[in-house]
Amino acid sequence: MTASSPKLFVKSYGCQMNVYDAERMADALAPEGYVAASSAEDADVIVLNTCHIREKAAEKVYSELGRIRKMKAQTGRSPIVAVAGCVAQAEGAEILKRSSVVDLVVGPQSYQRLPELLRGAKAGLKPVDTDFAVEDKFERLVAPAPKAIRGRGVTAFLTVQEGCDKFCTFCVVPYTRGAEASRPVSQIVAEAERLAGAGVREITLLGQNVDAYHGDGPDGRVWSLARLLYELAKIPGVARLRYTTSHPRDFDDDLIAAHRDLPALMPYLHLPVQSGSDRILAAMNRKHTAAEYLRLIERIRSAQPDIALSGDFIVGFPGETDADFEATLKIVRDAAYASAFTFKYSPRPGTPAADRDGQIDEALKSERLQRLQALIAEQQAAFARSLIGRRISVLLDRPGRDPGQIAGRSPYLQPVQLVAPGAAVGDLIDVVVTGVGTNSLFAAPAGDAREAIPELAEATG
Ligand code: 5AD
Ligand code: SF4
Repeated sequence: MTASSPKLFVKSYGCQMNVYDAERMADALAPEGYVAASSAEDADVIVLNTCHIREKAAEKVYSELGRIRKMKAQTGRSPIVAVAGCVAQAEGAEILKRSSVVDLVVGPQSYQRLPELLRGAKAGLKPVDTDFAVEDKFERLVAPAPKAIRGRGVTAFLTVQEGCDKFCTFCVVPYTRGAEASRPVSQIVAEAERLAGAGVREITLLGQNVDAYHGDGPDGRVWSLARLLYELAKIPGVARLRYTTSHPRDFDDDLIAAHRDLPALMPYLHLPVQSGSDRILAAMNRKHTAAEYLRLIERIRSAQPDIALSGDFIVGFPGETDADFEATLKIVRDAAYASAFTFKYSPRPGTPAADRDGQIDEALKSERLQRLQALIAEQQAAFARSLIGRRISVLLDRPGRDPGQIAGRSPYLQPVQLVAPGAAVGDLIDVVVTGVGTNSLFAAPAGDAREAIPELAEATG
């Protein structure tokens, strides 16, 4: 690259789809000569790829804009500053009013227009584009170069479905990401082949409601997520498939069968329930009960006994009583999570629950959050301990902490540290888990396990 290549810095907040979108923004600007900047200070274009899901996340953008303003004053540099992502979609031109440092506002459905929008921003036009485009965004987005893919590692995200029609009463997603839309199968397969061709071994399919996927198939029919997974599993080089996030209502029998049939489909499932109280589930408009959720998990586990579960929980939803919260603790105990994300309810402008009576005091939300987190931490540790002595596969994805060490991920997304001479990033190897740390597993290549932990020799054969 020449010294004069313009430099792009994208800072992403929030979910994995923003990570994916950040890559697509870099891909969209690569043909214009943009290369990655190492920091905001170094950049000609700074993109804040924002999250609107909770108030705290949404407010981060304004503190970051304050820092950029100071940085501009101190260094005398004047990079173009763009606000992208879900805050851009939700607040649009308001952002320009609140912060004069912003040159461009672009919502998630308009990233294909980024090159022309940047030209407008450079001309001082302060463009705002929060349209839900009629054209196919993905069709127009530039595919990543093999070199760019390689630079991003051996695991990759791939958006297959975007938006949500569920309208849970706490959630901004249906407003920021729009109505549910699925990409056509051929487009997804082509992108997956491109990733695999450049060395990607694990692909995580993304969608706000990924199990509601219903894309046009090459046979003229509508394909389900399960059917798509069977197809992707055929691509040479793709060793592991994951998908996130699912809604219990859309989890169909074919998807359960895919977990039984496809060795590449990792036995780790993010299936949020949000609450264990039927009263609160109804108030959240989740359209299922706690018992239905538990029955679903039972059915999935009987098809694939190895399944480990992850979830999302909200505490302090309006009207949540002590008994409702106890029901949440109960469903956590009954379902047994390998990990879970927990949140204090945050009233979001424009969502039905924000204006409801019975808003819960912050101190009570914090107390409930702590109790729930303690229970989940216990379950997470118990799950990790249950793996000691077990043989699992690890996808090596980075050098380890200490020399000679290499690191990877278990089927259940836990970081794994091991010493494996001759093994390289991108290898999928069988290991035996020898111990657990605070946030990771320790393991030895399966062949070495007898020496590493003789007392396990019997267990590992
Ligand atoms: N307050 C707190 N948590 C929320 N989530 C979504 N909206 C809110 C909100 N208003 C959580 C849900 C969802 C996850 C992505 O974020 O648990 O599954
Ligand atoms: Fe939000 Fe509910 Fe849609 Fe998930 S299913 S994105 S929580 S509205």
